[in-house]
Amino acid sequence: MNYKNNYKHLFVWIFTLLSIQGRLLDLSKCEPQGVKLSLGDNYDKDQFYINYNKTQSNPHDYTITYFTELNCTQNYIIIYGLKGQQLKITPNITMFKQEIDSSGDPKTITRNQTFQIYVYEYQVNLDPSKFQPDQLIAYSCFYKDQTSTKYEEKGQFQFFHHDRNKMFDKEFKLIWMADFDMNESLVPKYYKRRFGYDNLKIIKKFISDGRDKFVSIIGGGDYAYELNDDSGQRGANFLKDTEFLFSSIPFTSVAGNHELWYNMSYYKYLFRNPSYQYTQSDYYTLSFGNLIMIGLNTNRFAFDSKNKFIGMEQPFFNQMLDWLNKTLNWASQNYQWIVVYSHQNIHCFEDYPKSSCYGRQDIVAPLENLLVQYRVDIYICGHIHAYERVHPLYKGKKQFEENDQCKGKNCSIYRSTKAPVYVIDGTSGTNHYFPQDSGYKGSDEFTVTSDASLGFSIITVKNDTHLLFEHYTSDSMKVFDTFYIEKQPFNLGDDYQNDKLNEYIILLIAIIIFLIILLLIYLRRREKLKQEGKYNDQVALVQ
Ligand SMILES: *[C@@H]1O[C@H](CO)[C@@H](O)[C@H](O)[C@H]1NC(C)=O
Ligand SMILES: *[C@@H]1O[C@H](CO)[C@@H](O)[C@H](O)[C@H]1NC(C)=O
Ligand SMILES: *[C@@H]1O[C@H](CO)[C@@H](O)[C@H](O)[C@H]1NC(C)=O
Ligand SMILES: *[C@@H]1O[C@H](CO)[C@@H](O)[C@H](O)[C@H]1NC(C)=O
Ligand SMILES: *[C@@H]1O[C@H](CO)[C@@H](O)[C@H](O)[C@H]1NC(C)=O
Ligand SMILES: *[C@@H]1O[C@H](CO)[C@@H](O)[C@H](O)[C@H]1NC(C)=O
Ligand SMILES: *[C@@H]1O[C@H](CO)[C@@H](O)[C@H](O)[C@H]1NC(C)=O
Ligand SMILES: *[C@@H]1O[C@H](CO)[C@@H](O)[C@H](O)[C@H]1NC(C)=O
Ligand SMILES: *[C@@H]1O[C@H](CO)[C@@H](O)[C@H](O)[C@H]1NC(C)=O
Repeated sequence: MNYKNNYKHLFVWIFTLLSIQGRLLDLSKCEPQGVKLSLGDNYDKDQFYINYNKTQSNPHDYTITYFTELNCTQNYIIIYGLKGQQLKITPNITMFKQEIDSSGDPKTITRNQTFQIYVYEYQVNLDPSKFQPDQLIAYSCFYKDQTSTKYEEKGQFQFFHHDRNKMFDKEFKLIWMADFDMNESLVPKYYKRRFGYDNLKIIKKFISDGRDKFVSIIGGGDYAYELNDDSGQRGANFLKDTEFLFSSIPFTSVAGNHELWYNMSYYKYLFRNPSYQYTQSDYYTLSFGNLIMIGLNTNRFAFDSKNKFIGMEQPFFNQMLDWLNKTLNWASQNYQWIVVYSHQNIHCFEDYPKSSCYGRQDIVAPLENLLVQYRVDIYICGHIHAYERVHPLYKGKKQFEENDQCKGKNCSIYRSTKAPVYVIDGTSGTNHYFPQDSGYKGSDEFTVTSDASLGFSIITVKNDTHLLFEHYTSDSMKVFDTFYIEKQPFNLGDDYQNDKLNEYIILLIAIIIFLIILLLIYLRRREKLKQEGKYNDQVALVQ
């Protein structure tokens, strides 16, 4: 043994250790991060009316997305059925890159490095003969780098796969949450509390008792404050921190004003919704039994050369309204309940001096006109970090008939509404202007109630005649506000009704004719029997 040999050994050892470590590093750069489940094109019935002829879409019930640091082309996922069925799906991988941005206030520039990740999209179409609906479905993500021989597994995740055909006659629920991040609070009173994260944990616990009821969480915009910050890392951390919930119940979403940076590209790359390939989540529908939900991006803003807000981006806004016009026209003939949602509000009465409520009603007037024209039931938005319910109104006037259960601010059931009930709920937990200690007064005439503690809302389709809305405050898990919309059982439009009426009349006439014929036969037979009777009597007498 000499020193030279020992050095040789040492070098070999160090080299091996380094290469193993390098391998592990590469492997961890292929590990799926921020696994997120979303509803797929099969939920967007509308695409078949408007987009079908443009491009043939691949049918799919769900989309699963995640990101990694490297382009790991060998990654895949497996979906597991109850009876040992397995479905292997390979991804569509795209690269997302965020450049350095030195615009804005130099003190708050947090985008001073480039950020690059790979985004994986898996379209999941579940054949009902193999994956029985109304059951829990499990899935796992398998990953490896170029050099390793063995796959690592991340999962298993589980979600409830609803039977869409049965949603016409069963009760189901959707959760609304908007304006949330994973930050620690900097307010001394709430020192270091992570409001948004806590809320997700509360929601997870809440839905675990009724997974067969909850169909989706709907995100109302403004995520992470902001996805792009810390050179993109804030968004990556947000997605990692929300994985524990969004991997196990579909998360559908709209963009908010805080997604505006870089032309909303971070949001558009990392989030998926139905009809993504046509509209990149700017607008789409979700069809659940007798309920249609319509998601809109009302935050594609236009700015002047001094970066001052001047209105909506054109022609995008008009194109979206044109689509909405056609879609609402179709939806109003085919669905009992219509709920429209976006990040930015149309009506709200917050009295905060720098109020975030729309100052420019003229900009949203064409949108509001459509909501009123097609009798949308509820319009939900976030943006304001509080909850507020606003009575149906249009052009400064109430648009519903008061009844025993709905007088002034004491209103639990709406009937015959001529405009939507406006709900503002941006209470899901952010350090960004949150929370205040109470609600605000709002409008004497239109504000029903308001509150600014941590919360979320739930829409429940009870049956064909009752739609229930509830707002929960998360820390107490008490229902803070609740109302029903009540309607006559759904009939498929006036034409359909007229057709039905005609059918009834024809049926009635047929029944009457039938009865008359029966009567005639009976009378004739009685006549005949009478004659036969006479004859028989005579025979009897003779015998
Ligand atoms: C697609 O095009 C065909 C013929 O061009 C038309 O009959 C059909 O109605 C269109 N479908 C939709 C959903 O627009
Ligand atoms: C993959 O994703 C890109 C970007 O979203 C899209 O253009 C392309 O059509 C997708 N391909 C498939 C097979 O889905
Ligand atoms: C990932 O790598 C494959 C194989 O090298 C390549 O074909 C593909 O274009 C890459 N994808 C992206 C998004 O860079
Ligand atoms: C970018 O900004 C962060 C936070 O302000 C700072 O810590 C970091 O050193 C900066 N990085 C570069 C490359 O300038
Ligand atoms: C959120 O946390 C990050 C650090 O993770 C910090 O830089 C940022 O200022 C926080 N945002 C807000 C709105 O407090
Ligand atoms: C922003 O994105 C939209 C598509 O979402 C695109 O039409 C538009 O050209 C983009 N604008 C800029 C300035 O890149
Ligand atoms: C909606 O479409 C109808 C035609 O189908 C048109 O008459 C009406 O002006 C449109 N409304 C809006 C607000 O675009
Ligand atoms: C609100 O209306 C209900 C009837 O729907 C009634 O029982 C209740 O006392 C009313 N509450 C107030 C505060 O007026
Ligand atoms: C529909 O739901 C409402 C609210 O739960 C209930 O009062 C009503 O009886 C239900 N109607 C039917 C037909 O079940």
